[in-house]
Amino acid sequence: MPQTQYVEKTKWWGALGIAIATFLALYLYFDAGLDPKLLNKVYALHAATLLTLTFLIGSLSRFWPKIFNRYKSYRKALGLYGFLMAAGHVYTVLVPLGKSPSGYQALAGWAAFAVFLVMAITSNAKTAKRLGYGLWKRIQLVGYAALLLVGVHFFLVETRTGVLNLNSMQIVVLALVLLAVVLRIAAFIAGPRQKFTSYYDHFNGEDGEAPNVKPTAGKTAKKKTRKKKP
Ligand code: HEM
Repeated sequence: MPQTQYVEKTKWWGALGIAIATFLALYLYFDAGLDPKLLNKVYALHAATLLTLTFLIGSLSRFWPKIFNRYKSYRKALGLYGFLMAAGHVYTVLVPLGKSPSGYQALAGWAAFAVFLVMAITSNAKTAKRLGYGLWKRIQLVGYAALLLVGVHFFLVETRTGVLNLNSMQIVVLALVLLAVVLRIAAFIAGPRQKFTSYYDHFNGEDGEAPNVKPTAGKTAKKKTRKKKP
């Protein structure tokens, strides 16, 4: 049986550059200094931005693969950095700020956090293989529902006495979250451009292009096998 060896090619450093740039933009915008309340805003909005970018790349490459397929290799790193930032946000809310959030806004936040935790744990080839591509892919799709929950959480915490009060940075981030959800629904209606059957195919993109995994014959590379399609 013909075998292809693969090694993952995630753009950890490129994604870190994007994460640092967006963090600095938010930090400077809020002039956060060392104020835990302002820092919490920065962590929360930064988490929402990185997680949204992760999902946006998937939907945008469904419609414009030639432009966006190449950014698929940033998704895993952006998603993990976003999750770490969300963990920092939750820690800051609970410990330095000493809040005990309750109600629907907290429920939406915790539900989104739980889904992203599962996604973070399963975001590697070994676990994906163990779960099977079908289940792994379903977990990825639930991520869009979690992103919608982030939007709901955001909307509810910022709606005080029945009025949604947002500054321009918050408007940009909330609009990005909603755009990612709407594009995902549009992609769902349009149907898949290509039917993937494995974790590797999922990252292969259009025309056998491999933005996130590259074939390798090196001895040091982890051996991964894939059935060739007839
Ligand atoms: C993936 C998980 C989460 C994301 C992406 C997220 C994101 C956000 C965002 C974008 C805001 C609005 C920030 C602002 O501009 O003021 C926010 C606020 C807030 N979040 Fe979360 N959140 C998450 C989970 C949670 C959880 C689990 C809790 C509960 C402990 C929580 C508690 C809060 C609180 C109390 C606020 C209001 C903070 C303030 O008044 O300044 N969040 N969150």
